[in-house]
Amino acid sequence: MSISTLTVPLGNRSYEIIIGKDVFTQSLAVPVVSPLLANRGCFVITDENVQRLYLKSVKQFLINLGVRYLGDYAFNPGEKSKNIRTVELLYDKMIAAGLDRKSMVIALGGGVVGDTAGFAAATYMRGIDYIQIPTTLVAQVDSSVGGKTGVDLKQGKNLIGAFHQPSVVVVDTMVLKSLPIRELECGLAEVVKYGVILDEDFFVFLEENISSILKVNQTVLHTIVHKCCSLKADVVAGDELDQGRRAILNYGHTFGHALEKLMSYTGLTHGEAIAIGMGMAVDLAVMKYGGSELLSLVKRQDNLFQSLGLPIRFNRFTPHEILSAMYTDKKYIDGELNLVLPEKIGKVIIDSETGKDLIKRAIGARLD
Ligand SMILES: NC(=O)c1ccc[n+]([C@@H]2O[C@H](COP(=O)([O-])OP(=O)(O)OC[C@H]3O[C@@H](n4cnc5c(N)ncnc54)[C@H](O)[C@@H]3O)[C@@H](O)[C@H]2O)c1
Ligand SMILES: [Zn+2]
Repeated sequence: MSISTLTVPLGNRSYEIIIGKDVFTQSLAVPVVSPLLANRGCFVITDENVQRLYLKSVKQFLINLGVRYLGDYAFNPGEKSKNIRTVELLYDKMIAAGLDRKSMVIALGGGVVGDTAGFAAATYMRGIDYIQIPTTLVAQVDSSVGGKTGVDLKQGKNLIGAFHQPSVVVVDTMVLKSLPIRELECGLAEVVKYGVILDEDFFVFLEENISSILKVNQTVLHTIVHKCCSLKADVVAGDELDQGRRAILNYGHTFGHALEKLMSYTGLTHGEAIAIGMGMAVDLAVMKYGGSELLSLVKRQDNLFQSLGLPIRFNRFTPHEILSAMYTDKKYIDGELNLVLPEKIGKVIIDSETGKDLIKRAIGARLD
């Protein structure tokens, strides 16, 4: 199977995304990656799961490209490692391995590795280059593209960070085969989000390919990753620093973040939380605007999530508790609640004028 490439057009910060199957064992990615890496010192940051599965082949791929392999470091997997202590440890390892301002960091892993390693690269010696090699579906369709890097504080998620675009993103869809199903579903919630907010044809493609998706069919996953990266690249190109339209990527997230927070980030994955959150958002849109197109979207979005194994309802907390938690989301600390509401499949608006009572009614409609 061939590889495909697309560009994130950001002037002198533009970069390519390369998508393919068995990218590390084929030479197809070489023409794009090789000029960035030949004779350059590079250091791989990963987590212990990904280290066990893929570090060996990625290391060989890099060495074949002619890099000076300065070393690698794997931290404990999971969100609990995404903090400033890990970043400090990374600085230690990077200094010890001899990274200088011309060296390259390779972030090999899911969103936790990408965000943390990207932040280390953004700040080490005032910023050095890095490459994203995303290995979860979340990272392949979302976190590796767009340049948001950062870590969590005990006070909240992603409170420390920097915008730092990668030099290239190399996606191998084959690695999704080893991903636990719940992690795959997490990514699928974001995938469905792209269809609802930006692209009706893509939404239909998902509806028509459910069983292939769940079997991690490589052709279908290649199409999905390419489409999502291309949609995200467009949004990021129009609003790199997240001051306007990039907010549409938060569809379902204001509700979802509140649920995750109330659950203390255990028992409910991010993907599950935003699937329920998108249900609340679309219900709110129906209550606010009505119309047969929106009613049909509710049904189709619910059906798609359920077929993909994602929840559409929740059985804990009151509408009041969820709404209060929404107001503590970091994006809304000093403003009103900006909610992303669909008008129809493929089109959303950002709404800041909905009254609390209506929002609570929409939340309540999704609670058992
Ligand atoms: N920067 C952004 O724009 C952005 C966007 C979305 C999410 N994020 C961040 O991404 C993080 C979530 O990322 P995630 O869902 O990838 O979680 P993750 O990085 O914790 O990975 C999930 C689990 O899968 C394992 N894993 C990774 N690749 C694997 C593979 N191919 N096979 C088997 N196991 C594998 C990991 O070791 C980990 O245990 C959050 O911290 C979130 O804030 C950032
Ligand atoms: Zn998300």
